Amino acid sequence: NWSMQSFIEMQMKLIQDQVKDDEVLCALSGGVDSAVVAALLHKAIGDKLTCMFVDHGLLRMNEAESVVDTFKGRFGMKLIKIDAKALFLGKLKGVSDPEEKRKIIGTEFIRVFEAESQKLTTIKWLAQGTLYTDVIESGTETAQKIKSHHNVGGLPEDMQFQLIEPLNTLFKDEVRELGSLLGLPDEIVHRQPFPGPGLAIRVLGEVTEEKLDLVRRSDAILREEIANAGLDKEIWQYFTALPDMRSVGVMGDQRTYDYTVGIRAVTSIDGMTADWARIPYEVLDRISRRIVNEIKGINRVVYDCTSKPPATIEWE
Ligand code: XMP
Repeated sequence: NWSMQSFIEMQMKLIQDQVKDDEVLCALSGGVDSAVVAALLHKAIGDKLTCMFVDHGLLRMNEAESVVDTFKGRFGMKLIKIDAKALFLGKLKGVSDPEEKRKIIGTEFIRVFEAESQKLTTIKWLAQGTLYTDVIESGTETAQKIKSHHNVGGLPEDMQFQLIEPLNTLFKDEVRELGSLLGLPDEIVHRQPFPGPGLAIRVLGEVTEEKLDLVRRSDAILREEIANAGLDKEIWQYFTALPDMRSVGVMGDQRTYDYTVGIRAVTSIDGMTADWARIPYEVLDRISRRIVNEIKGINRVVYDCTSKPPATIEWE
């Protein structure tokens, strides 16, 4: 009689037998898969687990803080946080092509991870949140052809480590169930999909700190209002994007020339196809008013009513 509880016990035993007294490293991305691996490993081997979190400065509002609070604060895990914000912003300076941005972020992420993990000479194993679907998909290439999805969770295998992948027989919904059982908070377990390159592909064109701030703050307002309206479980993915354009507006008796924010919200099963979400007008109205009132530098909000195909979910 297979249950998630017995899966946990079985995996703990497997992990303990496999690593014995060795130490294990786990790279946290902020996403659900790596979070669940870390929680499972921590339960199995406690202090012999070290987590590493590279903050590339492209996460959403409070996300990096929440990772630290959860894993270091609540679970008391050993967590190394690398602040690489300046490094990533510097590398992205002057770059506006979406694929180029992805490539830079993917490459830099691996570089930082390698450099930092090489310092951990006592660690022999690397735990990764590979799912069953990742195992299947790496055999087929079709999913990757339209955009190169450099998931920052994907690390090179020619490192000093041996791999442990305790989730590689599970589907996403099982991973969420496991995460809940292991005591992870809802905000992590039910986190909507978030691209590895993060907000860098939601700031269209060149990424600057100023534009990241606009997209981050507008996204926080959108998420708050979607949750207030009770729509957060229905809509598969929702976020704001900042097109690289300004338009004319009026505020008081002043003419403005500011940025536009685009709202993207879709329903989907797997992200391969998607339909734009029919968010009620009143909710859109509230979001739009709050964004232009609360964020200086934005004077227009538009709603993306295209499905995938022909559009993609992300704007880059
Ligand atoms: P698109 O925009 O291709 O997105 O319709 C489909 C799903 O994939 C996510 N996405 C990415 N995830 N790295 C990722 O890890 C990427 O470069 C990337 N680009 C898109 C997107 O958020 C959506 O869930």
